[in-house]
Amino acid sequence: MRYRRCSLLMMQVKEDRGLDLQAVLQGRAELQTTLAWQAVAGHLDAPVVLSEEEVIALGRMAHDAWSEADAYDGCSEVLSGLIAKGLVISDEESAATFRDADARVRALNGWPLTALAHRAGRWRGVDSAHEMRSNNLVTAVELHGRYGPPPAAVSHHEGTPIPLPVAADEDFDELMSRRVTCRNFDPDRALPLQTAARILKRTIMAHAVIQPAPDMQILKKNIPSGGGLHPLETYAVVRNVEGLENGIHHYDPVSHALRRLADQPDDLDGRVRLMLAGQEWFVDAALHLIQVARFSRNFWKYRSHPKAYRAILLDAGHLSQQLAISATLEGVASYVTAAINEFDIEDTLKLDGIASSPVMMCGIGWRAQHLTTTEFDPAERIWNNGRQHR
Ligand SMILES: Cc1cc2nc3c(=O)[nH]c(=O)nc-3n(C[C@H](O)[C@H](O)[C@H](O)COP(=O)(O)O)c2cc1C
Repeated sequence: MRYRRCSLLMMQVKEDRGLDLQAVLQGRAELQTTLAWQAVAGHLDAPVVLSEEEVIALGRMAHDAWSEADAYDGCSEVLSGLIAKGLVISDEESAATFRDADARVRALNGWPLTALAHRAGRWRGVDSAHEMRSNNLVTAVELHGRYGPPPAAVSHHEGTPIPLPVAADEDFDELMSRRVTCRNFDPDRALPLQTAARILKRTIMAHAVIQPAPDMQILKKNIPSGGGLHPLETYAVVRNVEGLENGIHHYDPVSHALRRLADQPDDLDGRVRLMLAGQEWFVDAALHLIQVARFSRNFWKYRSHPKAYRAILLDAGHLSQQLAISATLEGVASYVTAAINEFDIEDTLKLDGIASSPVMMCGIGWRAQHLTTTEFDPAERIWNNGRQHR
C-alpha cells in the first residue's frame, strides 16, 4: 500500500467550554475548557479531531510524493487511523472516495486559505431566520442592546471638509432611489416572461463571445468580471413566471436559454426556503437566481492566487446590483442574500463543492401590496404606513 498526505490541510486548536463534570459531581457548577487539535482539509466537508501523535505524523508526510507503508517510521495504527479519517490518502480501493475528492482539490489550483474558508463556511440545514428570532437579534435596537453601539457609520478624519456639489436629481437618480431590498413579494402575481427575460439579458446574458482558440470562449457581459472569466453561473428557480414551468433550471448566457434540470424537488417552495437558510420573506419571489462559482474556471488563470476568491465575490456583488437596477427599471422588486445553505444547494444542483459551489442567491418578483416584513425604506419611496404607494 502506498500513501501520501492530502493536498490541502491546516490544523487549528479547537477550544470548547462546558460544565466540569468532576466539579458537578462534587456539587460545584464550574466551567472547564477543553482543547483539541482539529484538521481542516480541502477535500473534507467537516473538521476532523486529531490526537497529538496524528498531528506529528502528518507533519512528517509529504503531500506530493507517494511512500510505501513499510517505509513509514511511525506506528502503523496512527497511519491507518489517518487513512480512515481521510487525511492520509492511500492507493487502496477502499480509499477511493477520499482519493477522488483530494484529486479534485489538487486539480483546482485554489489558494489554500480561501479554498478552506469557502469550504468551511458552508451551511447545511441552517435556519438563520429562526436563529435570529430566538436570539432576539432581529432589530437594530436589539442588536444595540446586545452588542452596544457599532463603530461609527463614517470613520473620523481630521481636516477641513471640502463640500462637493450635489447634482440635481435626474431620472437615473430617481430610479436608483427606488431600489429597496424586497422582503414582501407577492406570492401569486406572475412575472411576465418578457420582463424576466429582459432583466436576465441586462444582467447575465453574454452580449458577445470571443473565441481566442477553438476550445476557448470569453464572454462579454454588461457586468465586469475579474480576469474577464465570468466564473459565476446562474441556476434559475422558476416559481411564477408566465409561460415557464416551475422548477429549477440552468441558465445558458450564450444562447440566453433555460434548461430544466432532470431532477426536481417535490416541494419547490420548501426547497427554496431551505436553500435560503429559512428566510421565508424571500421565498415568494417569482424567480430566484442561484449564483454558483465555478472555481475551476477562475483558478485556471489565477493559480493559487490570493485574490482569486475575492474577485469571484466581487463579481457576485456586481451581478446583484445590476439585477437590482434592471429590476427596478421594470418596476420589479429584488433581493440578494449571502445567508444560504450551500450544502443543500450543492445536493440539489449536484455540485461537488470543490470545483463549484454557490456563493449567493438573488431574486426578482412583484412586491406585495402590504408590508409584513421590514424593509429599509426611510425615504418612503415604496411604502407608506405599510401600504405600497407606487
Ligand atoms: C451581500 C449582501 C447580503 C445580504 N444578505 C441578506 C440576508 O441574508 N437577509 C436579508 O434579509 N437581507 C440581506 N441583504 C440585504 C441587506 O439587508 C440590505 O441591502 C440592507 O439592509 C440595506 O437595505 P437596502 O438594500 O434596501 O438599501 C444582503 C445584502 C447584501 C448586499
